[in-house]
Amino acid sequence: MQIVRDLVALRDAVAALRAEGDAIALVPTMGALHAGHMALIEEGKARAGAVVASIFVNPTQFGPNEDLDAYPRREASDARMLEHAGCRLLWAPAVEEMYPEGFATSIRVGGLAERLDGESRPGHFDAVATVVAKLFHQVRPDLALFGEKDYQQLAVIRRLVRDLDIAIEIVGVPTQRDDDGLALSSRNAYLTEEERAAARALPRALGEAAAALARGEPVGKTLALARRRLAEAGFDPIDYVALCDAHTLRPVTRLSGEARLLAAARMGRARLIDNLPVVPD
Ligand code: PAJ
Repeated sequence: MQIVRDLVALRDAVAALRAEGDAIALVPTMGALHAGHMALIEEGKARAGAVVASIFVNPTQFGPNEDLDAYPRREASDARMLEHAGCRLLWAPAVEEMYPEGFATSIRVGGLAERLDGESRPGHFDAVATVVAKLFHQVRPDLALFGEKDYQQLAVIRRLVRDLDIAIEIVGVPTQRDDDGLALSSRNAYLTEEERAAARALPRALGEAAAALARGEPVGKTLALARRRLAEAGFDPIDYVALCDAHTLRPVTRLSGEARLLAAARMGRARLIDNLPVVPD
């Protein structure tokens, strides 16, 4: 696997892959790779002739009081995992390569990017949309893979490519979980052993609520109960537990079509997010 760190080398490397004639898949990441990321690589391999991964801990998408400095960085072991998985090219630019002196452009996705995490993390999705648009232009893949784990991010990227006529197919990949149901996340590393054990309440509370909603329990009462379960397990603060339209992410007060149950809450030093589909029984 080739590792490139500047745009000139990237263009040459991508041109060489493109010359092979097969589709190219891009898997954007911030590194500290785990089985969740690797599921995206696998899906990319199934759908394209060559998979390109990027590792870039994007400083602009972290808020002033967030974990940019603490965010785990382990590029050498990430590169070994990617190579082992059959990834062909790793794009790992420095911050100065991504944001040269004088950088002043930002993409703002309105509507669905302003709710949920958009409220809890002002500016976050603008920064994600901007860096992902840059990655798309840099690599120019045929398709790009994103995890359902970050469901709102996936929806924002789908909106971005539709609105800006970016001819890249966006593929969502189901959330990969630990044995107890907790979604794999680079941020799980912040949890103490005790917090890690308590964190299983998040997928459990969502699972119970999703089942209750599917069989017709009232939305308000069900969300309140899920919130209480999280509080009892030690999550604090709970940013949101919300039932939303699966596509627009507008709040849903009565289940009719395809909906998504989403939650974000802090456990110790880690802000955890998770979501599940909800379809009426
Ligand atoms: P990162 O958190 O590293 O995640 C990279 C990709 O892996 C995202 O598409 C995310 O949804 C997916 N992913 C993470 N955990 C997963 C899991 N347990 N199951 C399935 N997929 C999972 O998301 C980002 O980086 C950044 O915002 C990025 C898109 C790279 C822009 O900077």
